[in-house]
Amino acid sequence: VRRQNIFSGSQVHLLFLLQSVCNILGGNLVSIHSALENSFVHELILAIEDPVDAWIGLHDAINQDGDFIWTDGTLEDFRAFNGTEPDTSGDCTQMNESDGCWADLACTM
Ligand SMILES: *[C@@H]1O[C@H](CO)[C@@H](O)[C@H](O)[C@H]1NC(C)=O
Ligand SMILES: *[C@@H]1O[C@H](CO)[C@@H](O)[C@H](O)[C@H]1NC(C)=O
Repeated sequence: VRRQNIFSGSQVHLLFLLQSVCNILGGNLVSIHSALENSFVHELILAIEDPVDAWIGLHDAINQDGDFIWTDGTLEDFRAFNGTEPDTSGDCTQMNESDGCWADLACTM
């Protein structure tokens, strides 16, 4: 067994999911860096009993100007906003539980 083959693809996915669960449970909002990660987080939301739109860690850096940063400090290198977003309606970002797309909304919603 070669060391780099210890984790199969599905185990890597599981590790990612567990990390996301921990981030969500620990109050650190998840950051998302690819379509694959976005679908994992979406799956996670769909896996709960009563799925709801979920806050993710994308934050408008300077007062709704559309310059987004991840609250965990990772590079802002992927976006999955829905067709009409971001519309600078707020500084926080929510994932739609039905299609996994994002919208920026007021943080207090
Ligand atoms: C979530 O996505 C669905 C399907 O695209 C859409 O009909 C619905 O309006 C969206 N909900 C919100 C809150 O954006
Ligand atoms: C995009 O998100 C906004 C805010 O939730 C919502 O009003 C709109 O209907 C969404 N558009 C689509 C195409 O889902």
